[in-house]
Amino acid sequence: MNQKVYIETYGCQMNVADSETVAAIMQSKDFFPVVSISEADVIILNTCSVRDNAEQKIWNRLDFLKGLKRRKKNLKVGIIGCMAQRVADKLLEHEAVDFVAGPDAYRSLPELVSESDIDLTHINTDFNTNETYSGIVQYKYDENAISGFVPITRGCNNFCSYCIVPYTRGRERSSSYVDIINEVTDLRDKNYKEITLLGQNVNSYFFEDVKQSVDFPKLIKMVAEAAPDMRIRFTTSHPKDISNELIDAIASYENICNHIHLPVQSGSNKVLNLMNRKYTREWYLERIEKIKSTIPNCGLSSDIFCGFSGETEIEFQETLDLMNIVKYDSAFLFKYSVRPGTAASKNLTDDVPESEKVARLNRLINLQNQISLKKNKADIGKNYQVLVEGFSKRSKEYLFGRTQQNKVVVFPAENVKRGNFINVKITDASSATLKGIIINN
Ligand code: 5AD
Ligand code: SF4
Repeated sequence: MNQKVYIETYGCQMNVADSETVAAIMQSKDFFPVVSISEADVIILNTCSVRDNAEQKIWNRLDFLKGLKRRKKNLKVGIIGCMAQRVADKLLEHEAVDFVAGPDAYRSLPELVSESDIDLTHINTDFNTNETYSGIVQYKYDENAISGFVPITRGCNNFCSYCIVPYTRGRERSSSYVDIINEVTDLRDKNYKEITLLGQNVNSYFFEDVKQSVDFPKLIKMVAEAAPDMRIRFTTSHPKDISNELIDAIASYENICNHIHLPVQSGSNKVLNLMNRKYTREWYLERIEKIKSTIPNCGLSSDIFCGFSGETEIEFQETLDLMNIVKYDSAFLFKYSVRPGTAASKNLTDDVPESEKVARLNRLINLQNQISLKKNKADIGKNYQVLVEGFSKRSKEYLFGRTQQNKVVVFPAENVKRGNFINVKITDASSATLKGIIINN
């Protein structure tokens, strides 16, 4: 009988995509992906290491799973993802854990699960810089999904001094553009309306074969042309690599969404230098100006964190100042968490007290809420193209969708359904959502 496998995903969108890849790998070896933990014979946690609290969540989850295993004797539990790579041995020591696989080792998962029966090695954290999971068609849990992720690069070569990713996901590699286009057309055939090209730094995409060499601007144009009736998004971009050619491509292709996620991390040159970000505040602001002047009405979002080693009050204020200049539509905001093994953990002192980190984070959040509210209010009266995603969480009388700028819009449900492109006039706004009414459909 097929064993049922349940995968729980933590962390980034890359992990969401990876879980679908893992489900496909398991299915090809007679495991059956399920969506309810109570049915599972095998539970896999796809983990994140980016901050300490992401790892803490997993340790707590494992304590819960230990209890579940007592009640269900044959249940197996495995850990994959960044934390599996970072602390494999420690994880295997936990009573609940039967097997561990790092981000380059997912093809070996079916064997690892079987071997965990017969006390062989249950661990694979080998790096494989050639691994792009080429040839695997991601398993789709939702037959009616309209939006999907397509990984185009894996790993990272940037070594920002605070970041664990280069150590957990290894060196950067790009998938073949042929595979990527095939994946996009496959999703198009499955009635998808939107895809997001994924990578730690999509802008450094590069793939060469006998026919041609393809960089990111070229790739995104190829994708946009292969799927003219689909929305194309991408994330994440490193500011040092965001080229005019890419900005021009977004401006000239109707189906490449007018939204750029461009993490700045800090507004202070001293801090950016300590972070090894390889750009200055001035460079970043020039890129933002270029985006604003080339793509009218471009949605802008960012990742920012406070309390990095050596960040003084003055330098923190430079971050607030930069946020006031750029006026992001939204931002992911964090406080610094030392990651063992990174350059910052070895060479810098984590010298901002926790209470100060919390206070600064609250100031970041308050400022961004004010900016988001102002920007959303400025949308009132404007019309936007919205891709309908489904019913609003609060009421079946309302639907929700997203603008190209990646803003969520809620509107009364009328004769339209998931996957439709509609025009919506914005009538009201909060800091998190827009409200509107459907026009001329
Ligand atoms: N501490 C806090 N935030 C971090 N990020 C990455 N590493 C750390 C860390 N050690 C944030 C960055 C990154 C996002 C994914 O997480 O803002 O862009
Ligand atoms: Fe977390 Fe980064 Fe790994 Fe994604 S790549 S799971 S965000 S540590």
